Formats: sequence, C-alpha cells, structure tokens
Amino acid sequence: MKATAIAHSNIALIKYWGRAAVADPGLNIPLNDNISFTKNSMIDDMKLQTITTIHFDEIYDRDSAEVNGEKLSGRKLERILRVIDVLRSEAKSNIKFRMKSINDFPTQAGLASSASAFAALTLATASALGLKINREQLSTVARLGSGSAARSLHDGFVYFHSASSHEQAFAEQICEPGHCDMHAVIAIVDESEKKVTSDAGHDLSAASPFNDIRIQRSAEQVMEMRQAILEHDFSAVGKIAEANCKYMHAVMMTSEPPLFYWNPETLRIIKKVMSLRQQGLETYFTIDAGPNVHCLCRPEDVETLTIELAALEGVKKLIPVRPGRGAYLADEHLF
Ligand code: PMV
Repeated sequence: MKATAIAHSNIALIKYWGRAAVADPGLNIPLNDNISFTKNSMIDDMKLQTITTIHFDEIYDRDSAEVNGEKLSGRKLERILRVIDVLRSEAKSNIKFRMKSINDFPTQAGLASSASAFAALTLATASALGLKINREQLSTVARLGSGSAARSLHDGFVYFHSASSHEQAFAEQICEPGHCDMHAVIAIVDESEKKVTSDAGHDLSAASPFNDIRIQRSAEQVMEMRQAILEHDFSAVGKIAEANCKYMHAVMMTSEPPLFYWNPETLRIIKKVMSLRQQGLETYFTIDAGPNVHCLCRPEDVETLTIELAALEGVKKLIPVRPGRGAYLADEHLF
C-alpha cells in the first residue's frame, strides 16, 4: 500500500479569490469559476514540481508526514489529513500512514506550491489505498487541501467549477497542453514566504467594495477565456488574463486589512511588459498571491522576453514554462 505521485503547479488565467458561502467553509469551494494551465518548467534545476510518497501499513502506530525535511504537526498536519481522511474513509480503512514530500521550488511565494503539493498527495493516496476514482472526482478531494490543487490534477488547460455542493465543485480539462500555443516566463523577484497565505487571504475578499464587481466580471471573462483558448487566440487569452489579474489585485488591495502582494520589482516588470507590448513583443502579465510575475508570450518569443526581463533590476531568476502534464504516478518511491 505504497504509491508515489508527481504533480506540477498551475497558473490561473482567470483567478479565484474568496470562497463560496456554503454551510461548510472547509469545503474550500471557489467563489467564481476559474481557469488555469498546468505548467511544466523548461529548465531542469527548477521543475516546479512536488514528488510525494505515501505508505499505509500496520507497522505505523500514528500518522506522520514530512515536507522538504520538516515534520508536520498542528495545522499543517490537519490540512493534509482533510484530504487523506476522506480517501481513507472511502476505502473503509483506518490504517496509519507515513508520508514524505519534496518540492523543488519556493513554497508560499505565490508560485502555487500548494497546488502541486495537494494534487500529488491526492493522487498518491488514492492509488496507495487502491481506490479507482476518476480525475474529476479526485479534483474535489484535492480541493479540500487547496482550491488550486483541483486544477493541477489535469494536463493542459483546466476549468474549475464553483458550485453549491462538494461533488459539483470539480475541475475538468478544457483541452490538451498543445492546443493553444502559449508559453510564459516567470520572473522571480522574491522567494521568501508571504506574510498572508492565500488560505488566509481568501477570507478577506468579502471586505472589499470591489469584490462583487470582480465576481460579476469574472463570470463573463471565464466564458470569453474558455472560447479564446479553444480558438487558440493568444492575444485574447493574454488580454483577458491580464485584466482579470488586475481585478483580483484591486480586491486584495482594498480588503480589510489590505493585502499588497506586489513590491517595487513587481511594478517594474508590469511596466516593462506594457512597454515591450508597445514595441511589438506581445506579452501579458498575470500575478498570483505574491510578488512574482508570470509573463505570457508566444513560444517563439521566450528567448527575447527572457533577455529583456533579465536586464531589469531585482529580477532574481527567470523560469520559462509551458502548458503541460498534470499529476501522474511514478515507480520510484522516496522511501
Ligand atoms: O488554492 P489557493 O489557496 O492556493 O488559492 C489560489 C489563489 C490564487 O493563486 C491567487 C488564484 C488562483 O486561482 O490560483
């Protein structure tokens, strides 16, 4: 009863920010439908992936988990138990486990480390327990750990449904990774852990006067985005993604207390992206809950864009990514 899964993070093209007001807020149901692509890194020293091994066995007298060498306890352990206990109960098992996980990128820096972490954990656990569950159902379980994790189970472009029930709030694939020719260059300006996690930030969204407007506008943008992806319309995808990202950050900045995830380097990159666009290099920015910026571009522009961004003060690392593979099982275990 041992399994290992590998999963990658994703970047939201239509963001979710805030949870639906359902009877149990622990269900982690997004306030609005949202869209992402699962990103595969094009460099070997930072694959933006999580590898997780889980082993259920009578030899263990208690549950234990370790992430990047740190033994989990308290809230961190409870968070992974939300996912594992649902699957344990589905398998009618009460066997204890040992879990070990490795992330090859900074956690909680707005790079969606919780997305790859909970996607890998969900797939590995379901497999170790011998459960036969399809990806859509698995995505509802991953969502209990982190909303964005529901999307990382799938390859390519993904649609995540908001709903009033656990079963209906699932993520499904829109199309394969190669369907829409688009890459991104991630400009890392700060790798440290953010002070307010997205988990805590979601609860502040309702306090912003712009929250309702964002939700209304996102409902339209999510339809436009789906269409633009299916029509491989890079310009439309980029324009809508950038507009939607600005709405989310406007809500963050006007919640109570306000959340300013950007720093001066973030703004410098935003301005550079806008000026490159004016000069004819078509690129658009999108930013999650952190200061790092994803610059969307056409595959043939990755190299030029990387050179332009590298020249900016404060840019620490550049990671080219493309839409790619979701979570999958691996034969080699971590222990
Ligand atoms: O699922 P979480 O708690 O990692 O929240 C994700 C929030 C954003 O990254 C800011 C937006 C998104 O849709 O990924």
